[in-house]
Amino acid sequence: MQTATTTTSLTVSRLGLGCMGMSEFYGASDPGDAQRVLQRALDLGVNFLDTADMYGRGENERLIGGFVRANRDRVVIATKCGIVRGATPADQRRDTSPAYIRAACEASLQRLGVETIDLFYLHRLDGITPIEDSVGELSRLVESGKVRNLGLSEVTVGELREAHAVHPIAAVQSEYSLSTRGPEVEAMVDACGEIGALFVPFSPLGRGLLTAAYRSPEDFTGADFRTILPRFQPGALEQNLTVVDRLAGIAAAKGCTVAQLALAWVLARGPHVVPIPGTRRLDRLEENIGALGVSLSREDMAAIDRAAPADAIVGDRYPTSLAPRKA
Ligand SMILES: NC(=O)c1ccc[n+]([C@@H]2O[C@H](COP(=O)([O-])OP(=O)(O)OC[C@H]3O[C@@H](n4cnc5c(N)ncnc54)[C@H](OP(=O)(O)O)[C@@H]3O)[C@@H](O)[C@H]2O)c1
Repeated sequence: MQTATTTTSLTVSRLGLGCMGMSEFYGASDPGDAQRVLQRALDLGVNFLDTADMYGRGENERLIGGFVRANRDRVVIATKCGIVRGATPADQRRDTSPAYIRAACEASLQRLGVETIDLFYLHRLDGITPIEDSVGELSRLVESGKVRNLGLSEVTVGELREAHAVHPIAAVQSEYSLSTRGPEVEAMVDACGEIGALFVPFSPLGRGLLTAAYRSPEDFTGADFRTILPRFQPGALEQNLTVVDRLAGIAAAKGCTVAQLALAWVLARGPHVVPIPGTRRLDRLEENIGALGVSLSREDMAAIDRAAPADAIVGDRYPTSLAPRKA
């Protein structure tokens, strides 16, 4: 397995595993399947597990905690704090005050059942607490040994630099994929490379859009978060699938799947880029890991750009109520 290493000496497999869907967001899940996927991932060399306190309101950390404890020296566990959840995924507020960060870290340690979190992210900034105060508190968690490395999610390059001046930042997580790209996120990929941090694309498969596995809004029912996401609404989804189908044509000509093409595209952006596709299925896990063997030529990249230009996808990433803060 290829790896990536930060200037803070954090080494992770070049592909991680997003664990969020194992608890909620994408419909029903089975805890037994989750354990099998975690084990196979590790057997195949994927050691970088991504969770957050808000996934399943703590349930996701509990779900993977036993596996992490049983394989403590082989697994890099990343979790996040800063989004305070209500009953549904859409019911959220943000808190990155020092008191909240301290309490959230203790709660995550307890649920995971470990003594140290390898990578602790601020999931979102609350827009109230000065970032120096939030990162200052995180740095005290590093001093006390409760956390090894610090990360940020969905921040601007300016915020990354402010945070990095307080304590070295080991990773930034932003949505980045063939369905979510543009100058701001490209600047973030470069900024992470400059400071020797990982850039961790979340939802690198566009929440499943880029796999061509979902063909109709009716594929998403009940508690599936995509029922409220603009890109999956009737009208938008059909239009977006025309982009995915063009990409699928390129993938077929290369002898890979469209999901592998999408992952290979983010991986090609630099050796510090470590996507964390999420899946609950062994076959999809293996397919996604196969992306590490797909190399894209200059001609492939040009064909992908023509098939899926940066503005090709219709619909915002989130509904208005969850829209990211303006910088
Ligand atoms: N920092 C943040 O704010 C943030 C936000 C969102 C997510 N994340 C993290 O990023 C991780 C990944 O993002 P994500 O789960 O939202 O989206 P994703 O990885 O882009 O897509 C996951 C979806 O695609 C399906 N899928 C995965 N591989 C597939 C394949 N080869 N073929 C067909 N379908 C496939 C999954 O279904 P199955 O499970 O049924 O296979 C799931 O529905 C999450 O698990 C979470 O840890 C972070």
